[in-house]
Amino acid sequence: MSDQQAQKQAAAKAALQYIEDDMILGVGTGSTVNCLIELLPSVNLAGAVASSQVTEDKLRALGIEIVDLNVAGTLDVYIDGADEVNPELALTKGGGGALTREKIVAAASKQFVCMIDESKTVDVLGRGFPIPIEVLPQARSYVARQLAALGGEPVYREGFVTDYGNVILDTYDLDVSDAAAMEQTLNNIVGVVCNGIFAANRADVVLKASSAGVETIT
Ligand code: 5RP
Repeated sequence: MSDQQAQKQAAAKAALQYIEDDMILGVGTGSTVNCLIELLPSVNLAGAVASSQVTEDKLRALGIEIVDLNVAGTLDVYIDGADEVNPELALTKGGGGALTREKIVAAASKQFVCMIDESKTVDVLGRGFPIPIEVLPQARSYVARQLAALGGEPVYREGFVTDYGNVILDTYDLDVSDAAAMEQTLNNIVGVVCNGIFAANRADVVLKASSAGVETIT
């Protein structure tokens, strides 16, 4: 097993402490979340709100009841991974393309617990990992031009369609030194459904695994 995979598993194990019996848990998407999902049979959930079809399928396969967010109401806890985390605990998400539903579930939760391995911390979002932007298919070229005007370099994620039938523009070179401001700027472009900057819905707790153990950052 790679060091990174071991760290994902350690972060997932540490996240279990935030889960209480009989709660409806918000569950994110990605390889780190998959480590958490493997551990969920050891806890007594009332159900789970899934942030993607992939996660929903994995939870169902374990016999965990899937609850519609409209029925669940406000969740106590949402647990997910991230592609990047800055010192203010703002995130880049959407590497797996599930950013819109992830942001909705995060917004509907009182506490967002984010599990990462040590490779995910950065000073400024968007310098290594591009910002994924979910776009209505018809608006793809228009939005790409607006992103270029902001200094970004959008790359169409070929062959990928989101759970909502939209496309993703992975956008390099945006200035995300003010994550909240860029999140809002991107939201204001007509045709953008959601962007992968989670500043308004930043993590409340980050569990950062490294070879030294798991650090809790708040
Ligand atoms: C999916 C996400 C994931 O949380 C993010 O890509 C991190 O994934 P991984 O745990 O596989 O590194 O935002 O849309």
